[in-house]
Amino acid sequence: MGAEGSTAFPGDVQLAASTAARMALETARRRTLALTDAVTEDDLVAQHSRLMSPLVWDLAHIGNQEDLWLVREAGGLPGVRPDLDDLYDAFQHPRADRPALPLLDPAQARAYVATVREGTWQVLQTADTSPDNPDRLLAHGFVFGMLAQHEQQHDETMLATHQLRSGPPVLHAAPPPAAPADAASLPPEVLIPSGPFVMGTSTEPWALDNERPHHQVQVAAFWLDTVPVTNGAYQQFIDAGGYQDPQWWTPEGWRHVQRAGLAAPEFWQREGHGWLRRRFGHVEPVPADEPVMHVCWYEADAYARWAGRRLPTEAEWEKAARWDPKTGRSLRYPWGDMDPGTEHANLGSRYLQPAPAGSYAAGAAPSGARQLIGDVWEWTSSDFAPYPGFTAFPYKEYSEVFFGPDYKVLRGGAFGVDPVACRGTFRNWDYPIRRQIFAGFRTARDAVKDHG
Ligand code: AVJ
Ligand code: FE
Repeated sequence: MGAEGSTAFPGDVQLAASTAARMALETARRRTLALTDAVTEDDLVAQHSRLMSPLVWDLAHIGNQEDLWLVREAGGLPGVRPDLDDLYDAFQHPRADRPALPLLDPAQARAYVATVREGTWQVLQTADTSPDNPDRLLAHGFVFGMLAQHEQQHDETMLATHQLRSGPPVLHAAPPPAAPADAASLPPEVLIPSGPFVMGTSTEPWALDNERPHHQVQVAAFWLDTVPVTNGAYQQFIDAGGYQDPQWWTPEGWRHVQRAGLAAPEFWQREGHGWLRRRFGHVEPVPADEPVMHVCWYEADAYARWAGRRLPTEAEWEKAARWDPKTGRSLRYPWGDMDPGTEHANLGSRYLQPAPAGSYAAGAAPSGARQLIGDVWEWTSSDFAPYPGFTAFPYKEYSEVFFGPDYKVLRGGAFGVDPVACRGTFRNWDYPIRRQIFAGFRTARDAVKDHG
């Protein structure tokens, strides 16, 4: 292992890049088909929320990106339907407008993604995926990993569409296990000492452009919540009148909470003295010990201020998740360099909800913080910005056009994130008003406040 990451591929053993590529693409496609086969044809073309595309748009867009970047750009083949590039270009048509477009119907979309995938297998058969291929799309099989991640990200978006959809449940999964016995006696926060750490990566083969390059960052000592903020803790903020008191909110946050009429996380409704939530069509009591979810950045930020704390910066989050005090190097994941196993984190849609706070002792970071990976995306205080030395690859529209103050960074991945699209370095971003994503948070405070 190098000082900064490793060359391991998904699957834990050092699989050939082409085998890892095939497995990742097959896993993504199984999930895409499960999410789209779960509903009727009418449901696939319906718009369940103005925030989301019809599921059939995501399906064909997945195929179109694979046609464009893998089959044509990397593979040099003529491709399947170059004429569809404009129709499925996310930048040309905002989500709200997509239902009115002349989209492929469900049968056509299914046939399209299957035909494109034939092209992908053809490319994979002859592609030189060795690390020293000067074609950066093919080296390490990057383009295959990129498209597997792209498909998984749209699968997560489709999962959010499922969550917004009304009607009886169509997705099913067992509940996660109860919290381990020590969950109740964990220290509430962990100390991350002051000093430099290596943020980002230059060696992780399938890391996306915004995770690169690695660079040293100074981080002052801080305390971080051992586990994400729970529903029970968040209810105390609600009960204390947090949504009615401007002192906890930024000016923009306060304007937003009033204009949007926010009073609780999305999908919650009052039931007597308690709360119910709707989760993929199930209406159930809000579990007090589960990480809170479906709160926007403004709500996370307000809660933290009410609690006398703040959101962690992105650099603080990554140091807590990756920095190993024993060696001074940055790990791929909180638990080490091994790919995520079922004992480490709640990823991969094994469950359709976060696990109770304090779960996954085997996935703890060296500091003792748990559940940094999996369960819920975690809002950070940071705007989405390029790392020093960033270069867009392979296209500016993946990351670069989103850099700036409009987007806040989320870290760590949620229960519906596949391991291929989740790393200690992985960066997600969204508008600070977004609540339909599977996002929660944890809080931090400066350690210097302790002196004095
Ligand atoms: C990284 C999740 C913000 O869904 O907008 C999908 C991922 N980029 N297609 C998004 C993405 C292009 C992106 N996020
Ligand atoms: Fe996309």
